[in-house]
Amino acid sequence: MYSCTKGISFSSRMFPSLFVVILGLCYCSEENSESSLGIPRLYGPSEALVKTIAEFNCELLTYPDGEPVLLQLFKAGNRDNFLAEYTSLDGEIAAFPMIIKLHYEGNLECVARLRNNSNVEPTVSNIHHLRVVEPVRDARIEVLSGRVEFFEGETLELRCKVSAGNHVSYKWLLNDQLVSHSHVHGEILVINRTTSKDSGSYMCVATNIFNKTKVFNSSSTEIITVKDMVSHPDISFTVSKEDSHSYSAMVTCQSTKGTPPITFSIYMTELVASTITQERNAKFKVPLVLGEHLGWLQCQARNADQTAYSAWIRLEVVPVSGPVMIHYDYDFGENYAVTIVRFYCKAAEGSLPRYQWFLNKTLLHDRGSFYYVDHQPPEQSILVLSVSRSSAGTYHCEVSDSFDNTTAINSKRWYLDKEELNRLPVLVVVVVFGCFTALLLVVTICCWVGVVFRRRRYGGKSLVALEMDRMVDAGEPDLKDFTDDADVVKTASDVEFDQASEASVDEWPQIEEEKTTIEDEPAEEP
Ligand SMILES: *[C@@H]1O[C@H](CO)[C@@H](O)[C@H](O)[C@H]1NC(C)=O
Ligand SMILES: *[C@@H]1O[C@H](CO)[C@@H](O)[C@H](O)[C@H]1NC(C)=O
Ligand SMILES: *[C@@H]1O[C@H](CO)[C@@H](O)[C@H](O)[C@H]1NC(C)=O
Ligand SMILES: *[C@@H]1O[C@H](CO)[C@@H](O)[C@H](O)[C@H]1NC(C)=O
Ligand SMILES: *[C@@H]1O[C@H](CO)[C@@H](O)[C@H](O)[C@H]1NC(C)=O
Repeated sequence: MYSCTKGISFSSRMFPSLFVVILGLCYCSEENSESSLGIPRLYGPSEALVKTIAEFNCELLTYPDGEPVLLQLFKAGNRDNFLAEYTSLDGEIAAFPMIIKLHYEGNLECVARLRNNSNVEPTVSNIHHLRVVEPVRDARIEVLSGRVEFFEGETLELRCKVSAGNHVSYKWLLNDQLVSHSHVHGEILVINRTTSKDSGSYMCVATNIFNKTKVFNSSSTEIITVKDMVSHPDISFTVSKEDSHSYSAMVTCQSTKGTPPITFSIYMTELVASTITQERNAKFKVPLVLGEHLGWLQCQARNADQTAYSAWIRLEVVPVSGPVMIHYDYDFGENYAVTIVRFYCKAAEGSLPRYQWFLNKTLLHDRGSFYYVDHQPPEQSILVLSVSRSSAGTYHCEVSDSFDNTTAINSKRWYLDKEELNRLPVLVVVVVFGCFTALLLVVTICCWVGVVFRRRRYGGKSLVALEMDRMVDAGEPDLKDFTDDADVVKTASDVEFDQASEASVDEWPQIEEEKTTIEDEPAEEP
């Protein structure tokens, strides 16, 4: 190891023009006076709590005899102010007991020099790093974004501020759940596009650790409420009967989302009424005249800077009127047995109809052991039956205004019986055969008429042409014609199928029509 000692001597005489300067004497060698002032060694705790006492030691391994040595503790790079000093007279180890201050943190070094001999260069110890810890205190949340209650879409920015503490790490919790890292930047939490899910109790926890064993915590909470903007309301109305002649529409405006209070308004070209509510819906009463188009209605909902609008609906209520039509179709199971029968009921008019189904005049509820009702208001109602012994009986439907059950209109009645139903294919055969017979009859008559006409030379038509005309006439509506005047089948129907007296004779054409439809267009069956 090398070190260098520089000596400078000045020698002057009283010659004004001559100035002898002996400069010089710089030599470097291994053995020197410095050999008596070795390199000090600095040690002590590497971590300390602020305002506590910690002791550092500086030790000279080689000690110059009889010379007091000054040992000083510095922050590395700052020799102007020493942190502590000690004079070692007898080679004893320097002890620096210190009340730790925050700014002590950093690299420390101990400098040794001879007290009364500045000719000997001081020596510097090893670097000793000290970490100073100040426990965190008094964390509190600062709402940088301004408000604790605001509408979705705005930015939330919070800062965790501590009144004291260093080497602090921060943790953010929302309702005791850790907030995602992507929102946390040190002591700042930012959520750019908030939703109501970001509402809740925010907690920041500031932590620092001393000596890997001692943990200091300070926390603070803040309630943040992100309000939902009200969603587009749905508008609907029901009718209520005030007395025998006056009605009103009860209009309901309903939003699925939105934090109250919400202002709902109803417009009919211009504002009709407005109300502020703690609910997400509001009801308005509007006078109504049945069967008249009174205008268009719209709901508006508002809870933030923006207004949400409903669709426009027509304020018009057509009362139920007849006739109430009923028809049916059916599905085959195995062996072509009818398993499912669907009755369809429909009123000629009515914007708010209520459909009710009856079996043997007993009201059927929406679902039973062998049936269910598929309401498709206002168009129709479907009664779906599984065919069994218990489903036998006479069916009909009744339609009334949903707001006024005194207006009920009944459909025709249908008798249904499993055995008879499954004889339907036989009936088809009978009908087809009947048609064939009828056709034959017609042709025969034609022939006969033709012969007579030809004999009389009446008109100019040939027998063939006449026959063609006849056949065309007798073509399509044949089934109906036949059933209309085929007494045999009517009677059969009364006996076999239409046992109920209500299922009157004139329903038969309908059955036949239905069947023809089904047989002709099986693809249309659902
Ligand atoms: C060293 O210098 C101090 C004053 O700076 C003086 O009091 C002391 O007596 C001196 N000691 C020796 C051994 O010269
Ligand atoms: C939030 O918005 C700021 C600017 O408005 C942007 O710099 C930042 O990246 C955004 N943060 C997230 C998580 O989207
Ligand atoms: C640091 O912790 C160790 C045990 O892990 C302990 O022995 C030591 O005394 C502690 N130091 C201080 C300054 O508390
Ligand atoms: C309905 O009446 C018929 C007789 O008209 C009867 O056979 C049937 O069991 C009755 N059905 C029910 C469910 O009461
Ligand atoms: C009509 O409805 C009212 C109330 O819903 C009820 O009390 C009344 O019995 C019903 N009348 C008929 C004929 O169904």
